Amino acid sequence: MRILFAASEAVPFCKTGGLADVAGSLPQALAKTGDEVAVVLPLYQTVAERWKEQMEFVCHIDVPLGWRRIYAGLFRMERQGVTWFFVDNEQYFKRDGLYGHYDDGERFGFFSRAVVSLLPSMGALPDVIHCNDWQTALIPIYLKDEYDRWPEIRGIKTVFTVHNIEYQGRYGKETLEDLFGLDPGWMTDGTLDFAGDVNLLKGALMVSDAITAVSPTYAQELRDPYYAHGLEGALNLNAWKLHGVLNGIDMERYNPATDPKLHSHFSVKRMEGKGRCKEELQQRLHLNVEADTPIIAIVSRLVSHKGLDLVCSAFDEIMGLHCQFVVLGSGDASYEEFFESKLGWLPGRMALYRGYNEDLATAIYAGADLLLMPSKSEPCGLAQMIAMRYGTVPIVRETGGLKDTVHPYEAWCGAGNGFTFANYNAGDMVYVIRQAVDLYHNNRDAFKLLQYHGMTEDFSWDKSAGEYNRIYQMIRS
Ligand code: GLC
Repeated sequence: MRILFAASEAVPFCKTGGLADVAGSLPQALAKTGDEVAVVLPLYQTVAERWKEQMEFVCHIDVPLGWRRIYAGLFRMERQGVTWFFVDNEQYFKRDGLYGHYDDGERFGFFSRAVVSLLPSMGALPDVIHCNDWQTALIPIYLKDEYDRWPEIRGIKTVFTVHNIEYQGRYGKETLEDLFGLDPGWMTDGTLDFAGDVNLLKGALMVSDAITAVSPTYAQELRDPYYAHGLEGALNLNAWKLHGVLNGIDMERYNPATDPKLHSHFSVKRMEGKGRCKEELQQRLHLNVEADTPIIAIVSRLVSHKGLDLVCSAFDEIMGLHCQFVVLGSGDASYEEFFESKLGWLPGRMALYRGYNEDLATAIYAGADLLLMPSKSEPCGLAQMIAMRYGTVPIVRETGGLKDTVHPYEAWCGAGNGFTFANYNAGDMVYVIRQAVDLYHNNRDAFKLLQYHGMTEDFSWDKSAGEYNRIYQMIRS
């Protein structure tokens, strides 16, 4: 089968979040199953020169968008069994950062329209276009919009994956014709209409042949107003084509036995290296070098849905336990300032890195003992899987992919790979943090068993790639 995977970011070319990890590793896994896979991305200015040097120019066209004709260049390169296409337009993509510009709707409307117009330049037409999040939500709409004028594309099926429903691409109704070049019928028939606004994500939910959510629990949660951010109606209406497929991680890249970023290597059979990684982390972050004090870590964007208000409200109680605390991330100033304000009070026991730093994140996954993710919502979450791979035991709230990947410790039989709590409540969170810290101090063998279970879990893409394949087959038959 020929699959075209459309996304707004992918490792190693451009990244702001977990979507980039998925778009950077799922296509390879699909290619391994025998599919012919291509990925299409915007050619951002921030894509490194070393990649740009490897790209070859394919063609350029004028993309029709309403009354405008807009330049789109197409570049391509081959990498690890996958063909990568890049859509070039300097006016839209020669900017700092990937998102957050006043005209993001126009930029990604253009990208989606360009992907459809450029299909004939990408080789034989794909069987399935797999779109991801609101930035590519217009692709299924533009495909349908072109059906009458362009019968060859009628056979192309679409899959739309929801990585995070919070971001929907919602704009005033005047954008429909002016900006997106679509007929008012798309609003009046309810496809794009959301309380009088244009909602791109809703449109994709309505017209795609299949919808997937990035974990089975998230697929369930999306039908509930607490999680769906207003789109529960559209999801319930389309529940018949909604599937939950758990994300994987790149097990080669995240391998403590070979990861070149690590100070010392380790594996389930030889764990000494983890102790050395911990010592190095404590030195690097000016923490007291204490082998027997558990390090609790947060590696996260510092935004509200990550559950940080629970952490802030219970912080003093947590630090009353015999532990150290490390935070890496950036986001809302209030959280950054909260952690900053605590630093002076906890010399040698707490460290904060404001921003994102891949090397330090890896050092934390490897050197910490516990990873805290008390998310209010978490579609899948990758950090808990990476942490487990490096022998760091997760403490999570039972939501989305956290619930699907972290199994709570059961003292009576030693089962589980982490600690979990269900209610969004600081007391419940502290209860399990206390349990984890106690286990670390008083029953190290049981703690080691949890590490072992996490390190030997299969978080590879193999199973999920098979599930996507089954969905592609199903919508094609
Ligand atoms: C989004 C979600 C995260 C998920 C990632 C990849 O970033 O917030 O939970 O793991 O997408 O699907």
